[in-house]
Amino acid sequence: MEKTLGARLLRVAQSIPRCETLVDCGCDHGYISIYAAKNNIAKRITASDINRGPLDNAEKAIASAGLCDRIKTVLTDGLDGISRHDCVVIAGMGGETIADIIERAPWTKDGSTLVLQPMTRSEVLREYLYREGFYIFDESFVREGRHMYCVISARFSGDITFEPYEKYISRNALGKELAKEYTDRVLSRLNYELEMKSDAGKVCEEEKKRYGEDILSLTEMRDKL
Ligand SMILES: C[S@@+](CC[C@H](N)C(=O)[O-])C[C@H]1O[C@@H](n2cnc3c(N)ncnc32)[C@H](O)[C@@H]1O
Repeated sequence: MEKTLGARLLRVAQSIPRCETLVDCGCDHGYISIYAAKNNIAKRITASDINRGPLDNAEKAIASAGLCDRIKTVLTDGLDGISRHDCVVIAGMGGETIADIIERAPWTKDGSTLVLQPMTRSEVLREYLYREGFYIFDESFVREGRHMYCVISARFSGDITFEPYEKYISRNALGKELAKEYTDRVLSRLNYELEMKSDAGKVCEEEKKRYGEDILSLTEMRDKL
């Protein structure tokens, strides 16, 4: 039976540019790969996962969709052992894990488009991308149930300068649907984190200052939306 993608996965899939080669890293069920093959978004697709169980599920779904000739599966950690692909999708993992996977695959700087959907700590991922010279050329937001997710598209371009708020929402996302609501949620989280850490006596002056600067920068930007 055909799987209908939920709002989050659909947004990820629709953010993939037409390309020759696509790798769906952490493919789990394989739905993104299957969507990309069926919709002729990519000619050749690699679906990878670090765990055998999810990869078995992906292989079954790919076989029952009759797409074994278009989608290759690989059991590996991140992009280890995988050669350059035109587009890299990494969705449904923490921002730190995604950054670590990109860091360990230097070929991602060789013109590949990255489509990234962090579940947590997206600020760590954005900051990593800027510092490594990846330009976030698109970012959009999608709501699914109670949750709101960002989908980031980036490509290596060299030196990048960024304002403190851009760790939390990139400049090209500011005019997007749900940008204000997304920013409000981030601000609530930052204020809550700072309050919790302060109450527990777990925040040093330097960290307090950083929270203060980030909250101020993000609040000033939000007020302009
Ligand atoms: C929550 S699922 C997300 C699946 C799908 N990408 C999505 O967005 O719905 C995370 C998947 O990533 C895999 N994973 C976690 N860490 C990984 C890594 N370092 N390399 C490859 N896959 C990983 C897990 O085994 C799991 O199948």
